Amino acid sequence: MNNNNIRNFSIIAHIDHGKSTLADRLLEYTGALTAREMQSQFLDKMDLERERGITIKAQTVRLNYEADDGTVYVLNLIDTPGHVDFTYEVSRSLAACEGGLLVVDASQGVEAQTLANVYLALDNDLEVFPVLNKIDLPAAEPERVKQEIEEIIGIDAHDAVLASAKEGIGTREILEEIVKKIPPPAGDPAAPLKALLFDSWYDQYQGVIILVRIFDGTLKKGDKILLHSTGRAYEALKVGVFAPSMIEVPQLSAGEVGFVIAGIKEVADARVGDTVTLFHNRCATPLAGFKEVKPMVFSGLYPIDTSQYEQLRDALAKLKLNDSSFSYEPETSVALGFGFRCGFLGLLHMEIIQERLEREFSLDLITTAPTVVYKIHKTDGELLEIESASRMPEPQYIDTIEEPFILAHIHVPNDFVGGVLALCEEKRGMQREIKYLTPTRVMVVYELPLNEIVLDFYDRLKSLTKGYASLDYEHLDFRPSDLVRMNILINGEVVDALSLIVHRDKAYFRGRDLVSKMKELIPRQMFEVAIQAAIGNKVIARETVKALRKDVLAKCYGGDISRKRKLLEKQKEGKKRMKNVGNVELPQEAFLAILKVE
Ligand code: GTP
Repeated sequence: MNNNNIRNFSIIAHIDHGKSTLADRLLEYTGALTAREMQSQFLDKMDLERERGITIKAQTVRLNYEADDGTVYVLNLIDTPGHVDFTYEVSRSLAACEGGLLVVDASQGVEAQTLANVYLALDNDLEVFPVLNKIDLPAAEPERVKQEIEEIIGIDAHDAVLASAKEGIGTREILEEIVKKIPPPAGDPAAPLKALLFDSWYDQYQGVIILVRIFDGTLKKGDKILLHSTGRAYEALKVGVFAPSMIEVPQLSAGEVGFVIAGIKEVADARVGDTVTLFHNRCATPLAGFKEVKPMVFSGLYPIDTSQYEQLRDALAKLKLNDSSFSYEPETSVALGFGFRCGFLGLLHMEIIQERLEREFSLDLITTAPTVVYKIHKTDGELLEIESASRMPEPQYIDTIEEPFILAHIHVPNDFVGGVLALCEEKRGMQREIKYLTPTRVMVVYELPLNEIVLDFYDRLKSLTKGYASLDYEHLDFRPSDLVRMNILINGEVVDALSLIVHRDKAYFRGRDLVSKMKELIPRQMFEVAIQAAIGNKVIARETVKALRKDVLAKCYGGDISRKRKLLEKQKEGKKRMKNVGNVELPQEAFLAILKVE
């Protein structure tokens, strides 16, 4: 294939600015999908994605487009996931392209996510050109948004295409721009194979399917390929492209994008960012930018109905097949029974997996409050990585503790800046920058501990800005921090399942809050129950549940036996859901008050 006729590009957009709708239009216009086949938003494969309107897994298509110059071009549209948790995946998809369409909603303007992804594109040396979408909306202000793009992003927007993906306006112009503005791919088809693996997933019938962009060399069916990071070799059983359905081709060569099926058993063996080469004719150096992604946020998942445990285990195994960045291991909890401790890239990733478990696998789950990874440097020199308080060593064995920090970019209308700053300060943030992007829009940049973000940061940000704030974050580093293990004691006994890792400055308030919540939920017993929050030996908060004076039957003097029986049965029923801590009976709700996500 003549490389001059190939264009590899991505669509960069903030969530909801119309990326999927535009992709559909491009597919439809180039005849990749006939109107009858056209299922709205072809690129968002999973139901969940469609329902939530977000793209989770990248999907790539090859389009044939006959341009005004009479040439038929091959356009490879490389879809990218649209959320902060998948920044690494986005960066690898972008690395597979020469250009990007920056789609901005003409009634909204530039958002934090837009900016983050444009920078990723520019870092990857992509030719980026703007498209103003939704110009059919009465609220569209293309001139203002053009100016915003120029001021904030610093790219020329004066001749940005005005489009409405919904109404099909501007589709041909966009295709012409792709052909004219984006450079064709370079690369030597005769050199040793060097291909970027930028996506992989598990298919029930075909095993792992990988998507590659060939930078140098040629890949043919039957070739013995080698994955650089694992050093494992496989035979390329099928080589092809999505157009948009799977079509086998004899070979893929430098500049092209396509899929390979090579009998790879697990997606964990086909890591995004890896270099694919030929076993017998290897490229000298792998492609730059490969990273191993690690879970950063953890939470416990427990079936509400204990009989669903096996089902939950099977479901997790199935999800893991397709998602190497997600991890799980069995865990038991005094309060919740048997479940799993799961690791996710970030909060959205966590939410997606939980929702899929509940929806696709019909499981009812209790989710414990998310936690992050801490690095503990012990006095004996050992380094521990823990994500739950129960694994934290006694204070005398700890030298320092480090916690993960993120860099958050928050875009917000200027009316809400005060509230956002107060929230970031409350969350132990350190301000890096406040910048007026336009007279009414502000970018607030903070360094924040991830531990504070996982609880309720995003929800509070959204509510205090009436939904106008957009947030983007990246992981920075681990930093030493004054973190302590806070224990909850019931009548002097530590309840392991309820221990938390908190910052010392926050411990007092958190402790007060928790014990008073628990006081409300623990029923009165025959004796007094003391609920305490403590750091080491020091009690920082205490509440008391007074002893019960009357028993439940006291009210029914003599007479009505059936009423008595009913009351006793009710009491027994309640007891079933109680857990004993020492001689105190705690209802599950009291545990959930601390463990569960609101
Ligand atoms: P993610 O998949 O989350 O990245 O979102 P997206 O950017 O793909 O947005 P999507 O295409 O799902 O569009 C979001 C919403 O905007 C949908 O309700 C679309 O119908 C609507 N929309 C997209 N393009 C236009 C347009 O040109 N005009 C109008 N009025 N609405 C549009």
